[in-house]
Amino acid sequence: MTEAAKKDDPYGLREGEVAVALPQDFDASLYYIGRIRTPWRRREECPKNAHEADAECTVELDPRWADGLKGLETATHVIVLYWMDKARRDLMLQAPRHYAEPRGTFALRSPARPNPIALAVARLVRIDGNRLTVVGIDCLDGTPLLDIKPYFASTDAVPDAVVGWHAERKR
Ligand SMILES: C[S@@+](CC[C@H](N)C(=O)[O-])C[C@H]1O[C@@H](n2cnc3c(N)ncnc32)[C@H](O)[C@@H]1O
Repeated sequence: MTEAAKKDDPYGLREGEVAVALPQDFDASLYYIGRIRTPWRRREECPKNAHEADAECTVELDPRWADGLKGLETATHVIVLYWMDKARRDLMLQAPRHYAEPRGTFALRSPARPNPIALAVARLVRIDGNRLTVVGIDCLDGTPLLDIKPYFASTDAVPDAVVGWHAERKR
């Protein structure tokens, strides 16, 4: 790959980024329980985060698990966990394009992480059988689904929470 092509490679290393050697073995296995259908085919087209996402998306649960949705139709919002299958897993310092300096993976919401699990608190529009229509998802079409949970404002919301480096950046 030429230097110019490396610069444009969304999965390549940027200046200041650091990768580590991954462990040889996995500690656990998991089931993909469905797929998420979104309008976005390329990473650059995706909303940067779930808050910016206003398109209706479909969470397609494998029919095997559909009984597990019983009662969820009463929720206004759901926590959706998904597997960022196109992300690299070895980055420990990252320099996202829209931030000036590199930061640690665990200080960021980047999809690149040892276990590329993403989360969104999405508005539940409706449930039809094994399909949930939601607003507030920021992944590529076909992204594997890991879990769905009801969002409880009473226990999950922390209205005064702050991420210092991000708050300072906006000042
Ligand atoms: C910054 S992450 C945030 C993910 C999630 N809302 C979170 O906070 O955990 C969202 C970005 O991940 C990228 N992305 C989306 N789907 C992906 C996939 N299947 N594999 C790798 N990267 C993906 C897109 O660039 C998207 O803008």
